[in-house]
Amino acid sequence: PKRFRFFRYTWRLTYLSAIAGTAYLAYGVYELRHPDDQFSPDPTKKNLVILGTGWGAVSLLKKLDTENYNVIVISPRNYFLFTPLLPSCTTGTVEHRSIMEPIRSITRHKKAAVKFYEAEATKIDPDRKVVSIDDISDVKGASSKTDVPYDMLVVSVGAENATFGIPGVKEHSCFLKEIGDAQQIRKKIMDCVETATFKDQSPEEVERLLHMVVVGGGPTGVEFAGELQDFIDQDIKKWIPEIADKFKVTLIEALPNVLPMFSKQLIEYTESTFKEEKITIKTKTAVKKVTDKTVEAEATGPDGKKFTEIMPYGLLVWATGNAVRPVVKDLMSSIPAQKDSRRGLAVNEYLVVQGAKDIWATGDCAVAGYAPTAQVASQEGAFLARLFNTMAKSEAIENQIHELSSELNLKPGVDAAAVAREIEAHEKQLRRIKDIKPFHYTHQGSLAYIGSERAVADVSWMNGNFATGGGLTYLFWRSAYLSMCFSTRNRVLVVVDWLKSKAFGRDVSRE
Ligand code: FAD
Ligand code: NAI
Repeated sequence: PKRFRFFRYTWRLTYLSAIAGTAYLAYGVYELRHPDDQFSPDPTKKNLVILGTGWGAVSLLKKLDTENYNVIVISPRNYFLFTPLLPSCTTGTVEHRSIMEPIRSITRHKKAAVKFYEAEATKIDPDRKVVSIDDISDVKGASSKTDVPYDMLVVSVGAENATFGIPGVKEHSCFLKEIGDAQQIRKKIMDCVETATFKDQSPEEVERLLHMVVVGGGPTGVEFAGELQDFIDQDIKKWIPEIADKFKVTLIEALPNVLPMFSKQLIEYTESTFKEEKITIKTKTAVKKVTDKTVEAEATGPDGKKFTEIMPYGLLVWATGNAVRPVVKDLMSSIPAQKDSRRGLAVNEYLVVQGAKDIWATGDCAVAGYAPTAQVASQEGAFLARLFNTMAKSEAIENQIHELSSELNLKPGVDAAAVAREIEAHEKQLRRIKDIKPFHYTHQGSLAYIGSERAVADVSWMNGNFATGGGLTYLFWRSAYLSMCFSTRNRVLVVVDWLKSKAFGRDVSRE
């Protein structure tokens, strides 16, 4: 009968798709594990030095034709970090290695070999065209500080955590920027829990230890608060019921609302979701001082009057945005054209550092008129790759034109008309290649997880904006971030982590 035939075909189609999917995945894994042989870079080519292994640098590296340059990557971190899922690492929803991609695997898959030095750039000398680097790792060889000369330099070192010089912040709080920060937070959450259940602990001390304070209502602070409350509600309370009603999460923000970059409707949705989740939001409250056990803030009441509030805490996470790294500050101070720039290296529309020669900057350390996000950094990195690939191509054509012209002038008996035609064709090609448009950022939208399997999204769609929040947005958030993960390996590991934490719960052991 016809309907059985339909089922048989559907089943066959599903079966074939599964085989094709598995074959594709297997091929991806095979390719990852068996990179092609690389050829050594030509020493006569230009030295292209890239500082950093974050969003900007890796997106440049991914699209760069490395055979055109001697590429040298320098960073204290020998991996790329997928920051959007970093808040999930603080509670073990995702394991930290799942969102790290070794830089060696990225460089090894390039056509021409790329050098990598695990070191921090400590100084950039634009006059001598050298970068001073320092191996800051624990194991040091006979050489640990040296200079690397460059012909072209890309500064993509990101930013450090802003503390605004507020006393006690550096000493007592946890930041959330690097893998080590997420691991420290995960450990500290469980340390607070175990200490709160210690024998003969006073009720005030239990209350303090289980008060988790987050400073900064930007996306980092909001996403972390949401993940933390999930961990407490879905796991910790189950395993340690005797303190279940003692947990408190407070989010402190100096401005009148959280998530200022999102639309009003999504700000209200986030605030009401936090209320449901029992996360306290204290807006118009600016932290002024931190001690080992308290946070001191200046709050503005509904009557406009200011008052001081002291909050005891067990865990304090500081997420108040970005500050300029010392190596960037130092470079800015050596370039007169950068004297009015405050938030990073001012760049032109081709991402060239203003007032400097042969230096480009991308991402959080560059000021190009966009927000410091991964989206911007990766688009800037990809733009630079296109720019450098084009520059190399046009240089090759210019050399060919030069050779043909000397043939025309020096070699007797050449077909002058044919050579002239060839030169003209090359010049035409050159004009086409050289017509590179300036960098243009395409905003794809903002997404943030807000806890209890809900997310908010301001998505740019068909020349308009589309604001949405809730459970379906959470599925969209998950699939969007999964597709953005660096490699198939990362994607598989993240999915396994999600399934693992859903099935068995998050691990509450303190490493
Ligand atoms: P980074 O990615 O920070 O990379 C900087 C690199 O430079 C690192 O490899 C670092 O080790 C290296 N480096 C540092 N100092 C030196 C030195 N002296 N010499 C050489 N190398 C150095 N953005 C989004 O668009 N969407 C999100 O969902 C999102 N989520 C985020 C979540 C969190 C928790 C955080 C902290 C940020 C998030 N962001 C997100 C912002 C995004 O991560 C940054 O804008 C992005 O990382 C900037 O890229 P970058 O290349 O400039 O810097
Ligand atoms: P942020 O700069 O976006 O927010 C920091 C917040 O801290 C500000 O709202 C500020 O008013 C507040 N603040 C500053 N000092 C304070 C004080 N003393 N007391 C109380 N509040 C204080 O920083 P964040 O969240 O770290 O983000 C940095 C960048 O990374 C942003 O560009 C952001 O868009 C991006 N990002 C994007 C994410 C996403 O798209 N999901 C996730 C995380 C970061």
